[in-house]
Parts: sequence; C-alpha cells; structure tokens
Amino acid sequence: MAGVGLADVISAYSGTQTEFMKLLFGQQLHIGGMKASLDLAERAGIAAGSSGIDLCCCNGAGMRLLVRSRNVASMVGVDATAAVVERGRRLTREEGLDGRVRFVHADACKCDLPSASADFVWSEDAWCYVADKPKLIAEAARMVRPGGVIAFTDWVEGPAGLTDAEAQRFLAMMTFANVEDIAGYVKLLSASGCEARLAEDTERFAPHFELYLNMIEMQLTYDVLRTLAFRAELMETLVDGFRFLGEMARAGKIAQARFVARRP
Ligand SMILES: C[S@@+](CC[C@H](N)C(=O)[O-])C[C@H]1O[C@@H](n2cnc3c(N)ncnc32)[C@H](O)[C@@H]1O
Repeated sequence: MAGVGLADVISAYSGTQTEFMKLLFGQQLHIGGMKASLDLAERAGIAAGSSGIDLCCCNGAGMRLLVRSRNVASMVGVDATAAVVERGRRLTREEGLDGRVRFVHADACKCDLPSASADFVWSEDAWCYVADKPKLIAEAARMVRPGGVIAFTDWVEGPAGLTDAEAQRFLAMMTFANVEDIAGYVKLLSASGCEARLAEDTERFAPHFELYLNMIEMQLTYDVLRTLAFRAELMETLVDGFRFLGEMARAGKIAQARFVARRP
C-alpha cells in the first residue's frame, strides 16, 4: 500500500480512535485478550524467572500479564507511539510493576537494545503495522539469545487470498503498508536463522469479530457513539468495516496466526 508508513500508524494510535479501542478491547489490544496471551505463552514455554522483549508493546498490558501470570522476571517493551508508551508507564506504575516492566520509545526496527539480551521476544497482533517485516524479524532474531524463542501472533493473509480490491480496502482501513501470510513469516524467520516450531491459524478472528459487532450493536452503542463525537455516519463506516473483516475471516482470506520460533 503506497503512502502508508509509521507516521500514519503513530497518528492512529495517538488520536481519538484509541478511546474506541480501549472501550472495545480493554487494555489488551489484540484478538482474544488474556486467553490468547496465555495460549501463546504456554506454547512458547515462557518460563518463570526469564526476561523478554515485547516489540510493539502498545500500553504494555501483555508484559504486565506475563509478569503476573508466568512470573517472568523482567520485560522491556518497545513502541513507536509516545502516547501509548506514556499511558503504559502510568498503568505499570499504578499496578506496582515498574520495577519489572520498562518501556523504550522507539521504532521496533531500530531500537538499539543489546544483542542476545532476552530469553524471548514477544508480540501480539502488531507486526502487521510494520512495513519492513524482514528488518523487524532480523531485529527480533538479533535480540533473542541462542536457545531463546520468538513468540508472536499477527494478522495475516489467509489461504484463500485477498483480491486486489479486498487487499486495498483491508490495508487502507487498518493502516497496514502490507500483510504477510503464514508461509511468508516462516521464510522470514528462517532467513534470520530461526526455526519455526509452530505456525498456525488461531481460528479466533471470525468469532471475535462477531463478538465485537454484538458488543457495538447490542450493548455499547451509546458509548461507541460517544467516542466518535456522536457522528452516526462514522459509526456506520466502522460497523461496515468490522462486518467486512468478519466476512474476510470467514472466507479464509485473513486470519490471526500464532508463531513460535527458536534461535538455535
Ligand atoms: C495493536 S497494537 C499492539 C497491541 C499489544 N500487543 C497488545 O496486545 O495490547 C500495535 C502497536 O504497534 C505499535 N507500532 C506499530 N509500528 C511500530 C514500529 N515500527 N515500531 C514500534 N511500534 C510500532 C503501535 O504504536 C501500537 O502501539
């Protein structure tokens, strides 16, 4: 998608749509919330006492969850949007976890964290926003220690494939410059010297978009409208967009995928 870059993503995560996202998703801005995080952690074998890096951590809810539920010793989160880093630092202080969770405000493709410094690199539903995925995966592979894992979920193109028109609509509405598929990520991981041990569809996308539509239309309608300055036409566009994403997922054209790779 020509003309979509990091500045557009930062603007999306700094603006009014964040109120809407908070309302619908809570602190964890990915499909499946805490259950999806715990599923990924279990499959990746995230161990007590380990240290991790969350690349594109947003407000850091995933890091706080790993510290609480897997007894991870420490996490460093990297995010390019100052507003979410600021909110993340505040929430982390409020939860008393600032001794174990810290934030770096930087582009995940060049964050300058030391090489081989983490037991695992983590991310949830965020790398779809990064245009240079080969660079991003190479950075993840550089920062994880030998024997460590890269564990992430992401939005990918499904096996049925998007038409050009569907791809244009999908990428534009999501502010994605491009989107990978499962095989593409496996190749990128391998090109960075990592072996994918798990690469699969979580099958969460379609049922969760049905849930979000129900939340918007059956319970949170007024609250959603409020986040949109009571502009009914914006609400209609939003609901149309959610329906489109649900349809694409049901047709096998997009999916949320889960990956666990090991650096030898
Ligand atoms: C969907 S949110 C991540 C949600 C988070 N993983 C969670 O589960 O709550 C996507 C995040 O990626 C960040 N992001 C996108 N491109 C980035 C980049 N190149 N470098 C760092 N952060 C980036 C955005 O600022 C945003 O906070």
